[in-house]
Amino acid sequence: MQTILSVENLSKVYASGFRALTRINLDIQRGEIFALLGPNGAGKTTLISIICGIVNASEGSVRVAGHDIVTDYRAARSLIGLVPQELTTDAFETVWATVSFSRGLFGKPTNPAYVERVLRDLSLWEKRNNKIITLSGGMKRRVLIAKALAHEPQVLFLDEPTAGVDVELRRDMWELVRGLKANGVTIILTTHYIDEAEEMADRIGVINAGEIMLVEHKDALMRKLGRKQLTLQLETPLSAIPAALDNWRLELADGGAELTYTYDAENERNDIIALLKSLSEAGIGFSDLQTKQSSLEDIFVSLVSKDPAAAARSAAPSVAENGKDR
Ligand SMILES: Nc1ncnc2c1ncn2[C@@H]1O[C@H](COP(=O)(O)OP(=O)(O)O)[C@@H](O)[C@H]1O
Ligand SMILES: [Mg+2]
Repeated sequence: MQTILSVENLSKVYASGFRALTRINLDIQRGEIFALLGPNGAGKTTLISIICGIVNASEGSVRVAGHDIVTDYRAARSLIGLVPQELTTDAFETVWATVSFSRGLFGKPTNPAYVERVLRDLSLWEKRNNKIITLSGGMKRRVLIAKALAHEPQVLFLDEPTAGVDVELRRDMWELVRGLKANGVTIILTTHYIDEAEEMADRIGVINAGEIMLVEHKDALMRKLGRKQLTLQLETPLSAIPAALDNWRLELADGGAELTYTYDAENERNDIIALLKSLSEAGIGFSDLQTKQSSLEDIFVSLVSKDPAAAARSAAPSVAENGKDR
């Protein structure tokens, strides 16, 4: 693995005195999709804005492929593309002119074949001669991506790419991001949608109140923090768990009418089969069962919640959704 972006001890205190980031350390690997997940106001846009040279850091440093973003600004900036959170485009320019101009801003020689490929990949080719003001919101978003890609960056930042877009465009954006990754572009996206991080990311960083709470491979995160719970509705309520079942982590609920079993999402299946066998041997019958897996949402809520009660609630899987196992 090769580190393409390295953030060291980065802090930001805005002129107002507000501390938006506190000692952020983060390494991004070449070719990965990294999701920076955090609630509104967490500092996601501030972090991206510093990396992209729009906001100055108060302390710390950032290097892009070894180039410091302050002392080696041009080289660093030319490797980066940014799709900003806010829709900002030159309304009266054509799609083609806007994208070609962006390329020129980075001192790249004109390359119509490349611009054509970007526009085709983004389904903008038919619209190339249209003025941006005439395009739908979704198309405008695509133009922003095309602009960000115009100078062939190696790292693309997408700041809340799907905030406020409809479901269909959201799917399209995800497809598009996967396509960019397949072309070797490193992607860093910010989102406050947990399912987006769950769907897209190779690794997830959780940021809250200006601090990175964790950085993990998505699968490892789900395995490590993911818990499953099996709930059985008993045919006959129990007043206590029979001694024969002592070695299972079982609990009675609903006045003895339900039995719950909480286990690691990792080593599931065999466990459940063995448990059901033990129950049958102990003469315990059940009329229904559900399983529920704690989702990234549960994990996320417990991480960013300052309220210990909420954190405790979210640490345990919540009510089963009609047997749906997610
Ligand atoms: N120019 C600014 N001056 C003062 N505070 C700011 C400024 N920009 C952002 N903030 C504050 O910094 C915090 C982080 O903002 P931001 O980075 O936009 O968060 P996010 O993108 O995660 O929603 C917020 O509390 C926001 O109000
Ligand atoms: Mg933001």
